[in-house]
Amino acid sequence: MACKKWYMGTNTKMYKTIAETNSFVSDLCQYTEDLSRDAFELFVIPSYTTLDQANRHRNPDLLKLGAQNMGWEEKGQYTGEISPLMLQEVGCDLVMVGHSERRHVFLETDEMERKKVRCALDHGLICLLCIGETEQEKNVGKADDILIQQLSEDLSEIKPEEAGRIWIAYEPVWAIGVNGKPVTCDYVEERVKVIRHKLSELFHDLGPDVPIFYGGSVNNNNAIDLAQCPGLNGLFIGRSAWNAVNFNQLIRMALAARSV
Ligand code: PGA
Repeated sequence: MACKKWYMGTNTKMYKTIAETNSFVSDLCQYTEDLSRDAFELFVIPSYTTLDQANRHRNPDLLKLGAQNMGWEEKGQYTGEISPLMLQEVGCDLVMVGHSERRHVFLETDEMERKKVRCALDHGLICLLCIGETEQEKNVGKADDILIQQLSEDLSEIKPEEAGRIWIAYEPVWAIGVNGKPVTCDYVEERVKVIRHKLSELFHDLGPDVPIFYGGSVNNNNAIDLAQCPGLNGLFIGRSAWNAVNFNQLIRMALAARSV
């Protein structure tokens, strides 16, 4: 059975303070309260320091809360890391692993992502695994190889019966952030086919249930097109979603586009 829900989420990166995150999550819950969660899921991934209070300011039935990163041990001599137990303690439902900025600015490897994915599932968290090729990899025709390699390595310890707690964000590195280049829906559709094929190889019958999101410069001009991209199950948004009024608008645009 293929994934039937539509997902909209945002990673606020290193931007919002505790007070800003509190009002962001409570406004989002309020603005989207009328939208049935039967076929729609909303998630927010703010900074570590905001999680505890964000959890108190959200309605957990309306909004899932996630962390931007996680260490892969429960405790130990790992200065600067945050463990899965600490994320559980502050009410996280999910953890993001392998965001492009973690891989390319902080030089995380697939070996590290693999341990984090395993650890997230061992602690009952949903794992949002981000994958994507760089511009150079795209230009030499290696995009699909990279996506397959990241999925194979990062998910190598995950059994098919655990696939229900894996979410995938396809985020081409060259499309993300202020210098991001525009992506076409055809390009996304082709990459999503490759990702879906690999997920079915890894998880057999449960592969089609794993939701795949697109992220990278989603905005008010391209959200409708991207929401209609065949094979996609959601949009994962940075800058354009950080204002709750605009995020609510994007959510409604995407949901309307899906129901056409
Ligand atoms: P952006 O960020 O929408 O601001 O390009 C996307 C992301 O990093 O997930």
